[in-house]
Amino acid sequence: MKLIIINGPNLNLLGKREPEIYGSDTFEAIFKKMQTKFPSVELSYYQSNIEGELIDKLHEVGFDTDGIVLNAAAYTHTSVGIGDAVKGIETPVVEVHISNVHAREEFRHTSFIAPNAKGVIFGFGIKGYELAIQSFL
Ligand code: DQA
Repeated sequence: MKLIIINGPNLNLLGKREPEIYGSDTFEAIFKKMQTKFPSVELSYYQSNIEGELIDKLHEVGFDTDGIVLNAAAYTHTSVGIGDAVKGIETPVVEVHISNVHAREEFRHTSFIAPNAKGVIFGFGIKGYELAIQSFL
């Protein structure tokens, strides 16, 4: 089983950025733990702060990977392009958010990804990534 985690803008700052919301672990540390926890999964990771690069990555992996775990971060709420990319590829996408976006500002309640996602997981902190991986197993 080949899965990829794709993280959007500012998630490279995990561990430093607003730790009261996003926790104090770096994504590299979290990723290593997940590789240990799911040894049967061929797991890879991509992060970009650039919308077009995220779209390119979705196109690249979206026809020969078993599943995509996507936290498009702020682009979730703004990007018709990423939403269209999710719609255009074959690989199922599970949308993840670390925080409970529905308990936050109104603008975070909108997702251009959710209508074409297999499912959405939010509000469980970093654990959300694990739950998303489990959903593919
Ligand atoms: C986020 C929620 C988004 O609203 C925000 O812009 C992020 C992170 C989350 O994981 O909780 O950068 O996707």
